[in-house]
Amino acid sequence: MDRRDFIKVSFASLAITGARADGVPGEISAEEIRAARFPADFLWGTAASAYQVEGAWDADGKGPSIWDRYAHAGRLANKATGDVACDQVHRFKSDIALMKQLHQKSHRFSISWPRVLPSGTGAVNQKGLDYYRRFADALLEAGIRPFCTLYHWDLPQALEDKGGWPNRDLAGWFADYAGLMAKHLGDRITVWAPFNMPWDISRGGYGTGFAAPGKKDFALFWKAAHTVALAHGQAHRALKAASSKAMVGSAYEQEPAIAKSDSEADRAATARYDAFHNRFFIDVAMHGRYPGTYVGEKQLALMGFAPGDEKILQVPFDWVGVHYYLRLMISDAGPVAADNLDPLAGVRVELPNQGPKTHVGWEVWPNAFYDMLMRVKRDYGNPVIEITETGLPYPETVSDQIHDTERVQWYRQHLAAMARAIKDGVRVRAYHAWTLMDNLEWQWGYGRRMGLFYTDFATQKRTPKDSALWYARVAETGRLDG
Ligand code: NOJ
Repeated sequence: MDRRDFIKVSFASLAITGARADGVPGEISAEEIRAARFPADFLWGTAASAYQVEGAWDADGKGPSIWDRYAHAGRLANKATGDVACDQVHRFKSDIALMKQLHQKSHRFSISWPRVLPSGTGAVNQKGLDYYRRFADALLEAGIRPFCTLYHWDLPQALEDKGGWPNRDLAGWFADYAGLMAKHLGDRITVWAPFNMPWDISRGGYGTGFAAPGKKDFALFWKAAHTVALAHGQAHRALKAASSKAMVGSAYEQEPAIAKSDSEADRAATARYDAFHNRFFIDVAMHGRYPGTYVGEKQLALMGFAPGDEKILQVPFDWVGVHYYLRLMISDAGPVAADNLDPLAGVRVELPNQGPKTHVGWEVWPNAFYDMLMRVKRDYGNPVIEITETGLPYPETVSDQIHDTERVQWYRQHLAAMARAIKDGVRVRAYHAWTLMDNLEWQWGYGRRMGLFYTDFATQKRTPKDSALWYARVAETGRLDG
């Protein structure tokens, strides 16, 4: 089915039943959607990150981050930058009013490390800290739980100049920053995630070079990965030491991996993708060990793994944060040179074709979200789960955006899958849609709109899309068929 058919079917059936009627592969039935229920105290929310929404990139003493540097070098689509983004630093009160209108009970945001510590270490920038204090207070006043991510990719450039994440010293500096934030904000903020998507920080930033700071050296990747994992353990303890109320987890993107064929080679490649992309950082935090089948002496030496590190790495999670966007199809891409240090060398990643596709080619397959949740339950001792992100981009024209029927349909189906997982014993307590309003989508600049509100970047006007209105009803009624 092509995109046009998908839209037609979506429109035709949404009005009546809330689900398409013609048996689109992978879709969840109208009956299941109607029957879906959520716990009364479930926390409906939205998520965003500092660089993507705040703007004010050099205001009030803020230092530059690696994303400021990367964007100013013209590395983002259409030479976009986060200099202004959604201007949230100046508009946070009205943005929080929008969340309230949507009956939200939780908002996941991130602190920009260089806004509070302009060079990453040393004296706190009071104005930066005050901003987050006011931000958290405004959320609390609106009855919204502030959920704080400490690192959503905007490393102080000053620390990159000292070697960035491959420099093991960053673990201690990050823990100091975490402790300071809990000391100053721990009376207002109790839910903390040290990291967002540690895999992408290390592999994208230092291995493939796909993200800031854009380095391409897999020897650096291994070092960066280990520093991030150590920083996670140290920050977890620093948060707890500074605030007795701190409840700490972290946010991990999960991409359920399916083998392209039943061949041994494809299944091995799939296991490898899963071990690295999905398990690497959760496993190491839970068990103090990297996935043993794949990380041997060579990698441990590259990382600079020292005796006693396993004790630093292992921390008891209060909750586990998972993002879900799509599943992937994995196959073996053939032999790999002995000196290739990329853990995913020889692994081919494709977008599956079984279900309908979004305009960026993402397959819509809600049951993969259910399967992923069941797996986290099974493999990690049924932890409390926060859905830290899910969502999708859709086309950019204003009218498609405001009447974003495909997005409503996507959310409805995925939330039904989540409701089934909850019924089957998964302890999901919160769900954060990505994202409140269209914002800076990293390398894609402003061209990938994922918000519930349409952002007019010229005027900063926010307009609710149909998905915002629908999500508000879900948060209010706990039902998906509204
Ligand atoms: C995950 C990242 O945490 C977030 O910053 C990004 O915008 C979304 N994925 C969507 O791609």
